[in-house]
Amino acid sequence: MFDTLSATPLDPILSLMAEFRADRRERKIDLGVGVYQDDSGATPVMAAVRSAEAQLYATEQSKTYQGIAGNPAFGEVMLAQLFGADNPLLASDRARFISTPGGSGALRLGGELLRRANPQAQLLVGTPTWPNHIPLLGSAGLPMVEYNYLNSARSAVDMDALQAALQAAKPGDVVLLHGCCHNPSGVDLSAAQWLQIVELCERGGLIPFVDVAYLGLGEGLAADGAPLRLLAERLPEFIVASSCSKNFGLYRERTGGLAIVAQSASAVERAANQAMAQARQIWSMPPAHGADIVATLLADRALAAQWRDELEAVRQRIVAMRQLLVERANGNRAGIDFSAIIEQRGMFSFLGISPAQVVALREQHGVYMIDSTRVNLAGINSHNIDHLSEALYAVLV
Ligand SMILES: Cc1ncc(COP(=O)(O)O)c(C=O)c1O
Repeated sequence: MFDTLSATPLDPILSLMAEFRADRRERKIDLGVGVYQDDSGATPVMAAVRSAEAQLYATEQSKTYQGIAGNPAFGEVMLAQLFGADNPLLASDRARFISTPGGSGALRLGGELLRRANPQAQLLVGTPTWPNHIPLLGSAGLPMVEYNYLNSARSAVDMDALQAALQAAKPGDVVLLHGCCHNPSGVDLSAAQWLQIVELCERGGLIPFVDVAYLGLGEGLAADGAPLRLLAERLPEFIVASSCSKNFGLYRERTGGLAIVAQSASAVERAANQAMAQARQIWSMPPAHGADIVATLLADRALAAQWRDELEAVRQRIVAMRQLLVERANGNRAGIDFSAIIEQRGMFSFLGISPAQVVALREQHGVYMIDSTRVNLAGINSHNIDHLSEALYAVLV
């Protein structure tokens, strides 16, 4: 039977990672992979996560199922983190949280829920976007309408295109938005632009679907959550796919969830019930280990404070690497001005070089990035910046 199958291309990042691993050169640099790396190039377990995990290990009494929505304590801390513990949204009981296998699981579940709530709904997607958005949400069966998220220089939001797309949408259509740290461009919406979007959603009866995979890595936890608090204040209905992969470093534990906000407690109850029915058909019960770690960590004041400090250090390292890259790449008279990278947020930015230059960097200098020229700023460190800077000079000048 299986000999009828042909091979399907996997995510290009995966093949690039394999090529990088097979490269025997000592001075090689991986700017392609989408995980945080510290100055030594490692993706460490955060100390607060390790302590929470030890607490959990010492106290956990059972591995029995926790239910389709997962650990309720995880749901509570996640809602409090997304919207603020004292948000009236939570007191009015209009929000529910369903634990999922990572942010990817939340995206897929959100897509399934939206399609059932409104089979006519179209999903507005600003491109470029995280490439996996398209298959994840497409498999949920939502028809997509794409618009240009970025201007032609890929350095700022194309607000005209975004507004035109939202104005052309019909009531009940869904707008996919990156909460912060836009992947792949690092070009985030400003507070004023979020306000414009909220007003267009209010006027047009549109439903935001916000992907929050990097909370705390942009401007910091409070500032990165501001758009979510704005949505909670102004809109009756929206959903949020949230991931703990990057900000807790829990990647392989598959930790995240879907937050559902509806106009009343009874409406959100029905929506959560439908989402759980879908989850039951896809993965049945969510993974628990990562969610239990987050619940343990955030319930412990000292560990929560330690985690916030560690997260802030991660954020500041990425900001510092943005500055270092621009300083060195501009300073070497390569002829291209990379300054916009300093204004961008999160782990990624486009380098904006040509496809031939991407290949030359890889083949001649062992500097790996995906064809779109998206680079992971956290792949840069004090040990490889000289090599990177020399490679850029050699290839670009
Ligand atoms: C924009 C975006 N959304 C969602 C995710 C999903 O993350 P995960 O499923 O690993 O939690 C990622 C991961 O790279 C991402 O970049």
